[in-house]
Amino acid sequence: MEANNKLSLLLFYVFYLTILFPTLNANIGHFDQEWHRRSLEARKAANQAYKKNPMKVASDFNQQVHRLFRGSDNNTRRGLAKYNGPCTATNPIDQCWRCDPNWAKNRKKLANCAMGFGHGTTGGKNGRFYEITDPSDNDLVTPKPGTLRHAVIQKEPLWIIFPRNMNIKLKGELMITSDKTIDARGANVHISNGSQITIQFVKNVIIHGLHIHDIKRNEGGLIRDSVSHYGIRTMSDGDGISIYGSSNIWLDHLSMTRCDDGLIDAIMGSTAITISNCHFAYHNDVMLFGASDSWSGDKVMQITVAFNHFGKGLTQRMPRCRWGFFHVVNNDYTHWLMYAIGGSQNPTLISQGNRYVAPPDQNAKEVTHRTYAPESVWKNWNWRSENDLFVNGAFFTESGKKVTNLPKTDIKPKTGEFAASMTRFTGPLKCIINKPC
Ligand SMILES: *[C@@H]1O[C@H](CO)[C@@H](O)[C@H](O)[C@H]1NC(C)=O
Ligand SMILES: *[C@@H]1O[C@H](CO)[C@@H](O)[C@H](O)[C@H]1NC(C)=O
Repeated sequence: MEANNKLSLLLFYVFYLTILFPTLNANIGHFDQEWHRRSLEARKAANQAYKKNPMKVASDFNQQVHRLFRGSDNNTRRGLAKYNGPCTATNPIDQCWRCDPNWAKNRKKLANCAMGFGHGTTGGKNGRFYEITDPSDNDLVTPKPGTLRHAVIQKEPLWIIFPRNMNIKLKGELMITSDKTIDARGANVHISNGSQITIQFVKNVIIHGLHIHDIKRNEGGLIRDSVSHYGIRTMSDGDGISIYGSSNIWLDHLSMTRCDDGLIDAIMGSTAITISNCHFAYHNDVMLFGASDSWSGDKVMQITVAFNHFGKGLTQRMPRCRWGFFHVVNNDYTHWLMYAIGGSQNPTLISQGNRYVAPPDQNAKEVTHRTYAPESVWKNWNWRSENDLFVNGAFFTESGKKVTNLPKTDIKPKTGEFAASMTRFTGPLKCIINKPC
């Protein structure tokens, strides 16, 4: 290559790293051509996944919830509405697959069930099954066939399953490639006491039914991130799951506790994400959506947080948002120490049909928390609460305009009285083969 070309390439990388990724360490030791290619592809995918009318996505979500409840007992008293449907599925995501006694033969049915911004995430639906038979993680560059690390770096779509219970202690970041489903139904699978799961510059990933806990910071080193590429990773923070510049991600029925950093981070232009049916507990900074107040690229972020239980021992950030559009709907918040939902940099926050139970602390009754802006600024941020249920003095400080742009047939969100019922089965389910799960 001509020296001139080399120089301009170098300048391009310097520009790229400093302008597009200004403050954030991508944990990539050497931003080589492969990472460069992936980052450009990921950005294209994010722009394609972006919805021009996010309120329609929110409204469609609410309609699906109403459809499930139609005709069933909708007496809302005390939040313990009975659901008289054919099985124990109490929300439309679960109802999409849980009632099938042949769920184990029809595992890929799950790929049709994502709702909200992650709708259309199919993971490894078009691939073969891959059985994890070996819980070890001894070689980060040449992982053994049968290990989770070997499965997630493959190029083709894969539906990854676990024939038995296991605990996987990751020795370094687990780098998941595009078009993968990690489906732990039918086994008790823990990812714990080691390094984090990283979803970086990829698309179309489903993670279902894992226990993720006690994730640690890791000093990094050589890690393979594809069958044809590996490189140096710098230190990782010890998140549970880190989503970085990735789109079409669906996290469902996870249990997450006690990680060194956040439980879930979605940053650097990640979008088309649904986080549903998860159980969160024993953690300070629960979820971070957007990590930089100076990087407007996160305007592309659109995330649905639905049917989750924010439980014991949580402090704050459920989630903490910047820039994007966040639909927080039909969740049950039973514990927080500081606040539930926070943000900066003009995020749009649509809170609908949640139950917010405030802690006893008189100073922590407010659901919402705004930072780095005076009221004269944040009063223009669109933070709306609709049909939420407030218990024990909880209150939500609204701001911005009332949400407009609703389709004509708009239906109100299912009220917060139903949140406890809709989140009754959060976390990994104990599915038994040949029985409805
Ligand atoms: C309860 O059901 C009735 C009849 O289907 C419906 O009109 C009403 O809006 C429902 N109430 C709630 C709170 O969903
Ligand atoms: C993981 O760490 C926790 C907390 O330190 C500990 O209680 C647990 O026994 C560990 N589990 C394994 C499998 O090492």
